[in-house]
Amino acid sequence: MAAAAGPAVRCSLWQRRSLRCGPGTGSAPRSAPLPARPSGRPAPRAGACPSRHRCLSAGPRPVPGGGAPLRLCSTQAVPQAGINKPVIDRIIRVDHAGEFGANRIYAGQMAVLGRSSVGPVIQQMWNQEKDHLKKFNELMVAYRVRPTVLLPFWNVAGFVLGAGSALLGKKGAMACTVAVEESISEHYNNQIRTLIEEDPEKYKELLQVIKQFRDEEQEHHDIGLEHDAEATPAYSVLKTAIQLGCKAAIFLSERI
Ligand SMILES: [Fe+2]
Ligand SMILES: [Fe+2]
Repeated sequence: MAAAAGPAVRCSLWQRRSLRCGPGTGSAPRSAPLPARPSGRPAPRAGACPSRHRCLSAGPRPVPGGGAPLRLCSTQAVPQAGINKPVIDRIIRVDHAGEFGANRIYAGQMAVLGRSSVGPVIQQMWNQEKDHLKKFNELMVAYRVRPTVLLPFWNVAGFVLGAGSALLGKKGAMACTVAVEESISEHYNNQIRTLIEEDPEKYKELLQVIKQFRDEEQEHHDIGLEHDAEATPAYSVLKTAIQLGCKAAIFLSERI
């Protein structure tokens, strides 16, 4: 089937409910302007945009709810001059670690629930996480960023978290999804603020990637809620514990 041209805009649960925006209809973006954050940062440095990302038409990609396909981007090497390397290193390293961990969580969930009624839903979200990880693998090469040394640990911890939550049942798996995706969405929003404070024009392509992924993580969060995550026994305790783990993982992966 032919794919519609142009970037896709998809709708969160909130939008579908409040704006009656059906799957694939494409309306306004979900993201509202982010609140300003006090900034003690120096003024952005002048310089040409370092990014040479190319957006390629990579064919249709299935999305939850049957929305319009997204374009995948390929990334070429980015000149290092003029970018705030410590900030960009930290952003790409932690995002790569997060997407790697998310892949392992969904792998663990699929190992337990792959043949259940929620298997296709989890697989669909996992497929998007694979795309996210692929993109950050490309960005690590383009920006010459090393991965966190904690990847072997996140490999095991992610799978154990995914499989463990799935052993609680379908709702338990979805509660884990809600907790993790909410944390990741907030984390991406913080990075968007940081890059806008740095230089939105210089980091335009990176911002575009992070905004797109933030929207998709939010969609995973909404899918978890749609599948009765909140009906899990001790939901708030489970969610708080998982989100504390996410914060620790983010803190460590930014730094080592
Ligand atoms: Fe992701
Ligand atoms: Fe996600």
